[in-house]
Amino acid sequence: MKKDIIIALDGHSACGKSTLAKALAKALKYVYIDSGAMYRAVTYYAMENGLIEEGKAFDAQRIIDNLSDINISFNYNTTTGKSDTYLNGKNVEEIIRTIEVSRNVSEVSKIKEVRQKLVEFQQQLGKNKGIVMDGRDIGTAVFPTAELKLWITADKEIRVARRYKELLEKGYKVSLEEVRENVERRDFEDSHRKESPLVKADDAIVLDNSYLSKQETLKKALDLAYGAMGK
Ligand code: DC
Repeated sequence: MKKDIIIALDGHSACGKSTLAKALAKALKYVYIDSGAMYRAVTYYAMENGLIEEGKAFDAQRIIDNLSDINISFNYNTTTGKSDTYLNGKNVEEIIRTIEVSRNVSEVSKIKEVRQKLVEFQQQLGKNKGIVMDGRDIGTAVFPTAELKLWITADKEIRVARRYKELLEKGYKVSLEEVRENVERRDFEDSHRKESPLVKADDAIVLDNSYLSKQETLKKALDLAYGAMGK
């Protein structure tokens, strides 16, 4: 008998977590939640409201003081067939993916109070199971008892090239070097922060997609998911 499960996907930046998570959710008719989008939305709010200023020292307290004014939600977009991220009622799905937001998001995601608020929201979204969530601490902090934990990985240069292509296709003017610098810095910051650093959960299954197509990666993940459902 098939049972609804929680699928947690973690890994470094730009390793294909969200592509796989979306495809898995679609195939299983599960809800997909992009937890990175939540950290990006808080970062975007801070930038837009002058809580983070270029050239000035990062002041976590200003963000903590404003946390109660930040409301994040996800709404289904009938045109794209995907769920979009909303910040205080405004669709921010595209704007939170810019390199400027990517540059600031690691600092914001180090803040304990930000993590507490977002983890609570993430756990609430998973309470009925039937969910695929990707991020950095999903299998360790958000859903430590998830039925399936995947640790997604790929060679760094392949990750950089994929993210570069993705940004160019969206029309952003970035250099390969800028993207590499950002990916390397986020990998380092995400793995070395004090609060919920990026680490592989002991019981996570490693899925290296460096030389796999999207379809091949999905097939492997689906087989694991059906196994975890007890089918
Ligand atoms: O998945 P992403 O690249 O969109 O995530 C953006 C940043 O958010 C990432 O560099 C670290 C942070 N993040 C986090 O700390 N914990 C998560 N569960 C998801 C993302």
